[in-house]
Order: sequence, then C-alpha cells, then structure tokens
Amino acid sequence: MNIFETDKTYVASTYARFPIQIVSGKGALVYDEAGKEYIDLGTGIAVNTFGVSDNEWVAAVTEQLHKIQHTSNLYYAEPCAKLAEQLCLRTGLKKVFFSNSGAEANECAIKAARKYAAEHKGEGAHTILTLCNSFHGRTITTLSATGQDVFHRLFQPMTPGFVHAPANDLDAVRKIADETELAAIMFEIVQGEGGVNPLTREFVSGLAELAKEKDILLIADEVQCGNGRTGMLYGYMNYGIVPDVVTTAKGIGGGLPIGVTMLGERVENIFAPGDNGSTFGGNPVACAGALNILSRLDDALLSGVKERSEMIFSALNGAPGILSVTGMGLMIGVETEKPAADVITACRDAGVLVLKAKNKIRLLPPLNIPKDQLARALEIIRAACA
Ligand SMILES: Cc1ncc(COP(=O)(O)O)c(C=O)c1O
Repeated sequence: MNIFETDKTYVASTYARFPIQIVSGKGALVYDEAGKEYIDLGTGIAVNTFGVSDNEWVAAVTEQLHKIQHTSNLYYAEPCAKLAEQLCLRTGLKKVFFSNSGAEANECAIKAARKYAAEHKGEGAHTILTLCNSFHGRTITTLSATGQDVFHRLFQPMTPGFVHAPANDLDAVRKIADETELAAIMFEIVQGEGGVNPLTREFVSGLAELAKEKDILLIADEVQCGNGRTGMLYGYMNYGIVPDVVTTAKGIGGGLPIGVTMLGERVENIFAPGDNGSTFGGNPVACAGALNILSRLDDALLSGVKERSEMIFSALNGAPGILSVTGMGLMIGVETEKPAADVITACRDAGVLVLKAKNKIRLLPPLNIPKDQLARALEIIRAACA
C-alpha cells in the first residue's frame, strides 16, 4: 500500500485530506513526496508562525530536548514559568494555565468562568453566551460553545449552559443578558472557521460595556487570530478592550501542541490545586519553542505583518473573479465567483497552498513570508480566481 492507501485504511476517516503528502520545507516553501514545491499560505492552519523548519525555533526546541523532554506538573520547570511570565508581561494578564490544544484552553476558560460566576453570582449563573458562526473546538463542551448547529447534530446531548447570539448584534446580546444571568461572553475577534469575519468595533465596545455593567466575564478566543496574526500581539488589542480571559494555542507553539489560558485580575486566583490539570500541559519542549516564538513577535515583526496584509488586500480587492476580501493582518478570507474548492485546487496545481473557511478561501501565511514569495503566490491566486 502507498501512504494514501495506508492512511485511508487505518486512520479514522474524520478528515477530507487533499491528495498530497507534505514531507519537508523551509520557511514558506514546502515540498510534497514527488519534490513539487508549494508556497504555503496555510501554515498548518495558523500554527507554523515562522514557516517550516525555522532555524531559531528548531534550535530552541532541540536545545531543550537535549536537556529534558518532560517532567510532569509535579515539579517546577523553567520554560513553563518563563513563558507564563512573558505572556503576562506582554498582555497585562495575571496568570496562565497551560494545556495542549485550543479546545482545552477554552475548556479551562469555561471552568474559570463557571467557578467565578458560582462564587460571585450563585450556582444558577453558569450560562455562557457565544456568537453564531463561531468555532471554539471539538470537545463536547467546546462544540456546545460553538455557534454552528451543523457541529451539534450528531453528538447530542450537548453540554448545557450555552446560548448563541448573532455576531455584531448588540441588541440581541443585551436581550439575552437581560433575560439570563450570564457568567461570560466568549468570542473570536476575527471568526476564523466561520469565514474570516472581524467583529465590528461598536459591537466589541458594546460587549465590554455590558460586561462591566452586569459583572459578566469577557473571554477572547485567540486560538486562531492571536500571536501576531492580526498585526497586533493579540487580536483584541486592535479594539482597545481588555478581556478577563484570553485563550490561545496554534501559532504560539510554532508547530508543537500547546494550549494557553491567560487569566486576568478578576479570575487570577480562581483556581486552587486540583481544579484543573494536564499531563502534558506546560511541556518544557513546547514551552521552549513558544518562548522563542513570543520573543520574536515584536514591533518590527508586527509592522511587517501589516505591510504584507496591505500587499494582499491591494492585490486581491476588486480583482477579476473576487467578490470580497475580509480579515485583518495575515488572516484573510477571499470570497470568489468560482466555488472555493475549485480555486483551492487550481492554486495547489499551480504551486500555492490555501485553505477554506465556509465559502471562502482563507489565507494564513507565515508572518515573515518573504515578500517576493507572497507576490508570486498572489499572482497565482488572482489567475485561479479570474
Ligand atoms: C478560534 C478557535 N478556537 C478553538 C479551536 C480549537 O483548537 P484545537 O484544534 O487546537 O483544539 C480552533 C481551531 O481551529 C479555533 O480556530
């Protein structure tokens, strides 16, 4: 059997894979098993922040691997403590819980919100409002949080205690908040899987006002839009708000699994020993890699993200066959006249890897993609859309 047949035979069929195997790469360039080169505008779905096989990240990870690969959370470990320190210094949030994925980071945020509400408002105040079209993960509870019925249908019963309101509809959120004692409102500043749609400024400031008025926690799910992707360290920083809880994963790890739940002032001491835990959470190798990634998400890098973003918007906005371009920084959705799946195939055939989000193609390139490679990829995308 070749690898495609082995995978189809033995791997649970939860993924509709593209018919190629990526075997190696450098930066924004990756290669398939036949040696064909692609410019990668997907970064393993916003994970490979500085592309593939990035020298600095590889050095940080391997240096740690040569020291110790895992200790468990029974002992102290420097990379975990230092990463938490850096995350708090860079965001102003107060404490960090580490896990292994975005879904787990959100599970922790939900636990923090439920415990806070039980202590401050009483046991009944456990409901968490999320937005329609959101995506918060694949565990039963984070699926329940996800505001898309299509994900719920086959897996009933969902975890109770979640309500959904249309994104950017503050009246709808207010109405629910008046009728139900809410523990928290959880949102993606830019809905990724939902079609790369940034929330409006008015809506986000309205949420912040409402949260203050009614003692509701704000949870920003920055799993996809965080870690420099929008041109700021975290997406919420574009909106002038300070959430009580910020979750992230994907890009902070640069390619190794990590989940991060950052707790602000109101919930910094919400957890006591035994309230949450994870065998691998805070793994020293993942944290050593993440420390390297975070240290490089500086002002110069972030202004480079904005420059590359402008290149993309000006190349694609109004181009033949392109109906709209949405998003922020290097998290971009492109609505095309042709079906997105056909555009993705045409791009791949011509040597560019892009993703899909709803009916759009989605671009999540490495934050430091060389501009000549980006320009070449944009020409290919334009040709595929026309
Ligand atoms: C906004 C958001 N939250 C949570 C998740 C779940 O992350 P993970 O797949 O690491 O569990 C994703 C994954 O795409 C996401 O985009």
